[in-house]
Amino acid sequence: MDEDCVMNDPAVLDELRRQQAALANFGTFAFHEPELGKILTEAARVCAECLLIPFAKICRYRPVENDLLIVAGCGWHAGVIGNVISKADETSTQGRAFVTGKPVILEDVAKNGSLTLPAFYAEHGIVSTADVLIKGKAGPWGVLEVDSGGHREFTEHDIVFLTGFANVVAEAVATSERTAAMQNAIESMRHLIVEKDQLLTERAGRERKVHELQSELIHVSRLNAMGHMTAAIAHELNQPLAAIANYVGAAKHSLDAGVVDPAAVLRLKGLIDKVQNQTLRAGSIIKNLKDVVEKRESNRFETKLEDVVRDSLAMVMYDATDSKVSAQLNFDPTVPRVLVDKVQIQQILINLIRNSLEAMHDSEERILTLTTAPGEPGFVNVLVRDSGAGLPQDILQRLFQPFNTTKKSGMGLGLMVCQTLAEANGGRIWRIKDEAKGTCFCLSLPLVTVAA
Ligand SMILES: Nc1ncnc2c1ncn2[C@@H]1O[C@H](COP(=O)(O)OP(=O)(O)OP(=O)(O)O)[C@@H](O)[C@H]1O
Ligand SMILES: [Mg+2]
Repeated sequence: MDEDCVMNDPAVLDELRRQQAALANFGTFAFHEPELGKILTEAARVCAECLLIPFAKICRYRPVENDLLIVAGCGWHAGVIGNVISKADETSTQGRAFVTGKPVILEDVAKNGSLTLPAFYAEHGIVSTADVLIKGKAGPWGVLEVDSGGHREFTEHDIVFLTGFANVVAEAVATSERTAAMQNAIESMRHLIVEKDQLLTERAGRERKVHELQSELIHVSRLNAMGHMTAAIAHELNQPLAAIANYVGAAKHSLDAGVVDPAAVLRLKGLIDKVQNQTLRAGSIIKNLKDVVEKRESNRFETKLEDVVRDSLAMVMYDATDSKVSAQLNFDPTVPRVLVDKVQIQQILINLIRNSLEAMHDSEERILTLTTAPGEPGFVNVLVRDSGAGLPQDILQRLFQPFNTTKKSGMGLGLMVCQTLAEANGGRIWRIKDEAKGTCFCLSLPLVTVAA
C-alpha cells in the first residue's frame, strides 16, 4: 500500500490517532513517575499495545560489560527481565540496532542468517522481531524491541512509530536521570545541612564547655587570689598586732604595779598612744593590701624619705628581742623628697629590716645599715644591708616569689609584698649582688619631680 492510500484509509488514521494518544499519555506518565524502572515497563507495555503485539522489551547498554541487558518488558515469562543479556555487536538483532543506529527487522526468526537468537524466543514462540535504537545524552543508551508470536510484517509506519516511541523513551530516560541527579544533589545537600547542624551543635557544646572551664578557672584563680590575700593580710597584721600585744602587756604591768606617780602615768599614756598608732597602722595595712589586690592607685604624697626609714626601724626595733644588733643610719642630706605612700614604704622597709634581723640572729657581728643615696636619674635608693648569713641558694632562684621561705614560722610572703608595693609606688626592688658579707636589698623610689 502506497503512503497516500495509507493516509486516506480511515482505519489507518484511527490507528494513528490511537497511537498518538497512547504516546501522549505515556509522555505524561513518564513526566510524573520518579522511578525509571516503572517508566520503562510502562513504555514496553504501551508500545506493545499500540502495535497490537504481545511482547516488547527494553535493553539497556552496560558499558563495563559491553552488553545489552533486558531491563523492562511485557509478555515474557519470569526470569527473562533483569537476567537475559545479548552482545552489543552485530551478532544479535538488538546489538545490530544498537551498533548501527538503524532499525533491524527480522520477519522470520527461522531465517535469521548470521544472527544469534536467544533461547527464550523459542519458548515464547517468537517469529518476528523489530529493534530500534534508544538514544542517550552521551551516545546510544539501549534498544527497544517488539516481538510477535506469529508472523508479523512490520510496515514503514510501524517503524516510524517505533523510532518515535524510542525517542520519547530516550527523553523520559534523560529526564529521569536528570531528576535522579538533582535528587542526589538535594540529598547530599540535605546531608551537608544535617552535618552542618551537627557541627554547629557540637561547636555550641564545645563553646559551652570552654565557657564552663573558663568560669571554673576564674573561680579557682579568685580562690587562689583570696588565699594569697588572706595569707598576706595575716602576714602583715602580725607585726602591728604583736606590737599592740607588747604595748598592752607593758601597760598592764604598770597598772598591776599601781600607777601613782606622774612619770608612770605619762609612760602609760605613751603606751596607749602607741597601741592607737599600731591599731591605725593595722587598718592601713588592710586597706593597702586591698588596694594592691584590686590594683588601685596608692595614696602617694610628698614624703621625706629619712622619716619613713627612721619610723620603720623604730617600729621593728621596739619589739625586737635581739638587743645586740647595731643599727647604723647613713642618710644623704641632698636626697630630695619622694612621692610615695608612706605606710606602704614602711611596710617594705619593715619587711626588709625584719628579714635582716632574722638573718643575723646567729651571727657574731650583727650590723644593720640603712642608707639613702641618689639612684638612677629621678630616683632615690634606700639600701638595707646586714651582716647576716646571706641569701640561701634555693631562695635566690625564686626570689620575690610567694611562699618561698627557709623559716619555720615564715610564710615566704615578705619579699613578694615588698615587690608589689614598690611597683605600686612607681619604684622597684632588687638584691645587690656580690656583697662581701651578708645581704643587701635596694629599694628605688621616684622623686617628686619625676613622679609628678
Ligand atoms: N636579709 C636576708 N638574709 C638572708 N636571707 C634572707 C634575707 N631576706 C630574706 N631572706 C630569705 O628569703 C626568704 C624569703 O623571705 P620573705 O621575707 O619573703 O619570707 P620569710 O621571711 O621567710 O617569711 P615572712 O613571710 O614571714 O616574711 C627567707 O625565708 C630567707 O630565707
Ligand atoms: Mg620576711
